[in-house]
Amino acid sequence: METTAIPKIHDSAQDFMPINGTDYIELYVGNSKQAAHFYKTAFGFQSYAYAGLETGLTDRESYVVIQDKIRLVLTSPLKSGTDIGRHIDQHGDGIKVVALWVDDATYAYNAAMERGAKSYMEPEVMEDETGKIVRSGIYTYGETVHIFVERKDYEGTFMPGFKKWETPDYNPESTGLKYVDHMVGNVGWNKMDYWVEFYEKVMGFVNILSFDDNDISTEYTALMSKVMSNGNGRIKFPINEPAEGKKKSQVEEYLDFYEGEGVQHIAVATDDIITTVRQLRSRGVEFLRVPDTYYDAVMDRVGTIDEDIAPLKELGILVDRDDEGYLLQIFTRPVEPRPTMFFEIIQRKGAQSFGKGNFKALFEAIEREQEVRGTLH
Ligand code: FE2
Repeated sequence: METTAIPKIHDSAQDFMPINGTDYIELYVGNSKQAAHFYKTAFGFQSYAYAGLETGLTDRESYVVIQDKIRLVLTSPLKSGTDIGRHIDQHGDGIKVVALWVDDATYAYNAAMERGAKSYMEPEVMEDETGKIVRSGIYTYGETVHIFVERKDYEGTFMPGFKKWETPDYNPESTGLKYVDHMVGNVGWNKMDYWVEFYEKVMGFVNILSFDDNDISTEYTALMSKVMSNGNGRIKFPINEPAEGKKKSQVEEYLDFYEGEGVQHIAVATDDIITTVRQLRSRGVEFLRVPDTYYDAVMDRVGTIDEDIAPLKELGILVDRDDEGYLLQIFTRPVEPRPTMFFEIIQRKGAQSFGKGNFKALFEAIEREQEVRGTLH
């Protein structure tokens, strides 16, 4: 099978459910207060909103941090026996909610349910003195859910039930992260096409790109991937499944440690990847490294680019080109003890693809880390 590129504007997507963008991403974590500090200190997020004991909640506490259009909700239980605690026990820290910003959360829910979605949350109106928000939700792969957020009639901070989280004494600078470019899900053996069909049928997405195990394999490990996009292209969800290789693939390692299917990485966009990555590194974010020899061949492969190679090599930033332009990207190491979720930093200069030319170098870098973890066997 060849890699197939389907036209970039996704006319074939049945946009019955218009999505304006990613609304927020909620992680269930062991210690939301410390996680918020980490995302502020290391990644340059800003304090934004809080819900917990001080707002009348008794079972959980959430800190919301923001950087440009990216909102992370970090939630921990306040007592034992909660579903959040059980989620953390099974999966470790991980992403529970990928919330999508829609104009009509009731319509989005009804449309998805008619097309076969499994309900997570019926439409629910939340109100305060600044307006109202409507939320509804459906399940996707694993225990991950999509919550539809309708916020056109809301002017307050984040959503009703939250208060502004202000930290006058500690507000580290932004690192230049702007918005969520794409989010990748890892699903089980032979489940990729099931979830591709789910996004097509239930959400009206279209498959814009496919990679088979010939595209994504090293000497030892393999995976397959299909990229799903909504009609306006603001939401892109690549779906990975493991493929047979001589050794355990990174997707299998994820599934083992996450104990199920889930979000593998969040790719966040920047306009200046060199400055962003320099900042992130100085604040302690750890990145995967490719060998220096990667840079010997990179100019031949991608041609002329605006950036000097020296800082890219110094920082370990990867480059790839497609028919429309080029992109620069780099991947963090996992951000929790289990080798599960990580971040990608991406700067697009025309290219709308995902760095296929870097897969081999990248997966070999991941394998070196798997080797150290003792999970490459
Ligand atoms: Fe990615």
